[in-house]
Formats: sequence, structure tokens, C-alpha cells
Amino acid sequence: METEIINLLRNEGKLSKETIKELSDIQIDDFFDSVKELGNNETDYIKKEKIQNKLNTEFIGKEIFIFKEVMSTNTVAKFFAENNVGDGAVIISEKQTNAKGRSGKSWESPIGGVWLSIIINPHIDQSKLPIITLTTGLAVEKTLEKIGVNNAEIKWPNDILINDKKVCGILIESIAKFNSIEHVIVGVGIDVNLDIDSFPQELKEGTTSLKIETGENIDENLIIKIFLEEFEKIFKIFLKEDYEYILKEWRKYAYTIGKNVEIRELFGKTYEGYVVGIDKQGVLVIEKPNGEFKKVISGQCIIKK
Ligand code: BTN
Repeated sequence: METEIINLLRNEGKLSKETIKELSDIQIDDFFDSVKELGNNETDYIKKEKIQNKLNTEFIGKEIFIFKEVMSTNTVAKFFAENNVGDGAVIISEKQTNAKGRSGKSWESPIGGVWLSIIINPHIDQSKLPIITLTTGLAVEKTLEKIGVNNAEIKWPNDILINDKKVCGILIESIAKFNSIEHVIVGVGIDVNLDIDSFPQELKEGTTSLKIETGENIDENLIIKIFLEEFEKIFKIFLKEDYEYILKEWRKYAYTIGKNVEIRELFGKTYEGYVVGIDKQGVLVIEKPNGEFKKVISGQCIIKK
């Protein structure tokens, strides 16, 4: 986190190399006010007024911080959360230089996409995190429907696909103290007005953007505004513990159910099976070739042709 904050301040001319050398023991939290101030700007594409104008939410997006360039909005959001920035604050960056994907992968984030992280403090236990992932995926689906994209699907746990290609990724991170979750960072990356040509070869084939799929440029601010509204709506249902509703809605968009898959656990085994569904905890249930049922909490899910 320190590297992220030092880079951010240095790029904006708020911290010189000399100062950094002089600071033998950097207390990064001392720079919180400067970082917060930097987030009060707008960029060429992302404008706070456009997002907050008639924003129909109670707490999500009431505080918004916009940056031109950060390494990862999730890391900046963690820094904000640890400095007591409130529930529902949103960190947005026009571009990310070291964005995080799932399973330790990186995430391409040039100008033209929506790269944001929401801070929430839901006081839940670890077992409820998979449902927050589903909540977020569902909110992205509803957002896409609102702008007229009706053929997006969710590949478990949290890839949004259009015509079998990924258009959005979600990375949920949590900060826990004494075994209970203090903050959850909901990181969302949507390929909005990207051409994909600049993407590394290995990503090109499986990636798309809203511009490619709709043939139109879409205002990033509009997508952000709708997403914040949709997220709050479904998150309130999560807070009321009506998980059944979220699961039922999620299943309508499920790409993975009924498919043969290969599961690669992060530090563990690889196995194949047929996806039976998701259970009440939002965990994937697969039937292995030997008839044994297996619950998958996390891991990479590859669809077998
Ligand atoms: C995935 O691998 O599918 C998850 C990608 C998540 C990317 C988003 S972009 C905003 C936020 N900041 C990050 O560093 N990652 C997430």
C-alpha cells in the first residue's frame, strides 16, 4: 500500500524524491489529507457532478474520489477505509497501472474503462463474502440491462460475459480485525469504450468491450451512476439477509450452471465436474465423474468444450 500512495503523491508532484529519502520511517497515514485532496479533482472523462447528479442512493457514492492514474483503486480504497472514510465511498481512476485481477493475475486498465472500488463496512462474517460477490455481479447485470445490453451472463464466481467474452471482472477484498470483517472493498472493472487491440495477445481472444458489442461509445459516468444505484438496491437486500432473492436472481444469468468445468484451486488441486448449481452460501456445487458432489468456495473455473 505504501508504494501505491508514494507513487500517487509523486506523480502528482506532491512528494519529491528528496523528501522520500529524508523520511526514514514513512508514516503513510500522515499523507492521507493530501491523497484525499487529490481525489477531489475530476478528469477528462470522469466527472463527479455527472455521477452524483440525481444519484438515487442513500449511502453508496455520497463520497466519490476521482484520480487520473493509480496503481489499483482497490489499494487506494483500502488506504481510505483504514483512514475512516465512510461506508459507501467510491474510488474511481481513469487509468490503473498495476491493477489486480483474481488469483494474483493483473488486469488491463487503460483510459476508456470503468475502474472503481466501493468501500463497505457490513459487519459480517467471512462466510458471507461469496454472496457479496454474487450481489456485485448481479448489480453489473442489471446495469447492463438498463443501458440496453440484454445478453450478458455471469460466469461463476464473478466474470461478466457477452457472447462468451469477458467484459467485466470483479475483485472483492476484505480487511479483517480479530476474526471479524471490518471493511469490504468491492472492485469492479468494466471494459466500456475499449478497442482491445492494445491488449496482450493472450487476452484479446477472450475479451470484449461494451463499445465492441453495441457499436457505440457509452458515457462512463452514466455507467458508474447506474451501477452505484443498482449495487445499493441489491446490497440493501443483502443487508436484510434475503439471500434467497439474490441467489434466485443470480441464477437467471448463470452461464456456468449445467456446464462441464475444470476447477483449479489457488494452491490446490485441479478437478473436473458438471456444475449442478450454487448453494445457499453462494458456493458452486459440482458433480464429479465418480458421482461425488463437491463444493467450490473459490478457484478458477474453466468451461470444458
Ligand atoms: C478479475 O480478475 O476478473 C477481477 C478484475 C478486477 C478489476 C478491478 S478494476 C477496479 C479494481 N481495482 C483493481 O485493482 N482491481 C479491480
